[in-house]
Amino acid sequence: MTLPLPPASLLFSPVSVGPLTLHNRVWLPAMVTWLGTDAGDITDHVLSRYVRYARGGAGMIVVEAMGIRDVASGPLLRIGHDRYIPGLRRLADAVHGAGEAKVIPQIIDFLKIGRRDPARALARLEARYPGCSKWPEEVLSERLTTREYRDYAYGYRQDIEDLSIEEVRALPGHFASAARRARLAGFDGVELHFAHAYTMASFLSATNHRPDEYGGSAANRVRLAVEVVKAVRAEVGTDFCVGCRILGSDDVYGGSTLEDSRHHATALAKAGVDFISVSRGGRFEDAKRPTVGEAAYPYTGHSGLMCMPTRDFPDGPNLFLPSAIRRALRATGLSTPVVGAGKINTYAVAEGALQSGSLDLVGMARGLLADPDWPKKVLAGQEEEIRRCKYTNVCESLDRAHLPVRCQLWMKRPDGGMHPPG
Ligand SMILES: Cc1cc2nc3c(=O)[nH]c(=O)nc-3n(C[C@H](O)[C@H](O)[C@H](O)COP(=O)(O)O)c2cc1C
Repeated sequence: MTLPLPPASLLFSPVSVGPLTLHNRVWLPAMVTWLGTDAGDITDHVLSRYVRYARGGAGMIVVEAMGIRDVASGPLLRIGHDRYIPGLRRLADAVHGAGEAKVIPQIIDFLKIGRRDPARALARLEARYPGCSKWPEEVLSERLTTREYRDYAYGYRQDIEDLSIEEVRALPGHFASAARRARLAGFDGVELHFAHAYTMASFLSATNHRPDEYGGSAANRVRLAVEVVKAVRAEVGTDFCVGCRILGSDDVYGGSTLEDSRHHATALAKAGVDFISVSRGGRFEDAKRPTVGEAAYPYTGHSGLMCMPTRDFPDGPNLFLPSAIRRALRATGLSTPVVGAGKINTYAVAEGALQSGSLDLVGMARGLLADPDWPKKVLAGQEEEIRRCKYTNVCESLDRAHLPVRCQLWMKRPDGGMHPPG
């Protein structure tokens, strides 16, 4: 395919996303920075990170996942109480003041997870299985239930099947309140996090075996997500952008396939989302067993690798997912814009994906972390100047350790810190 020069490209042409017009189609997907305070507040470091992206010229900046409940969650950003609004407003204002980018937070609910503590798990099981503390691993795996063995071997993890119906029915309200705060803080919209290892993705997943109207069939599994979209929309109105991020495929045994995702995407588009961002994998089901004292981490198995494909993969290995979902939407007469991501880092791949109709917006996470000026440089015909991500996932290992996320390619400062180019 012969591609136009960047100034005449689709990539650098404006696009409507619900009530918004983006000045280009370069989309920064959410990337946790671990730069907030332990109370989940915005810091100056958070502000500088996002201002830097805005200066680089991206069309949309999705701010990292922030928790919708008012519960301690380490330096993960939070939007679960009105006291967060002033800090969030500083962030929205700073990004708006730094460039043409629109900015929306990704809002997330997650379930409880504990650190692996086999001695404690076995002490609890003694009442039911006297002497189990002395059983060898193979005997434990045979005699304990699947769930008991998992809690022993990987650490306790709450499942969606553990939630009472009252807890499930409270979720749309939590999302709606968070979206209301995002609006009050001056953001341009919200992205509902329905992907990866978290609560909403687990409802959508084919691994959801709840026996009530929220589990089992595909129609039941998407029910809660649709209720969330409707509750959020009722709270913020139609002039505020509301989109969601889903998985094109769970990439775990027994999890959702592309077929499920096409179904869910169509239901969510009909419910009125302004965009659907398609990610892949990142589930707990195939996570590696953590060392004692650590919690399981959902990006350590095959599904995690497919979420953040490394240098061993060709460019754009996940593009077939947004492509198929977009086709399904268009076949139903739905024009909802679709975002794709996963190792898209050259103008040729990005523009090629747009021209071939695989997606409407090009998600670029690690590529923009490595060089926030990617859009400016490509538009100016200076692609060879780009500091290209090497996809070694140093950023991801920092994320895993809950350490401030940065790129290994950034310049070293005299004080030993790191800063992005420019
Ligand atoms: C350090 C790091 C943090 C991430 N945090 C989030 C997040 O908060 N929410 C989310 O949906 N995806 C998150 N992701 C996944 C990215 O949004 C993106 O889907 C993935 O990195 C693949 O795109 P890429 O190849 O352009 O990096 C994160 C990825 C990285 C590397």
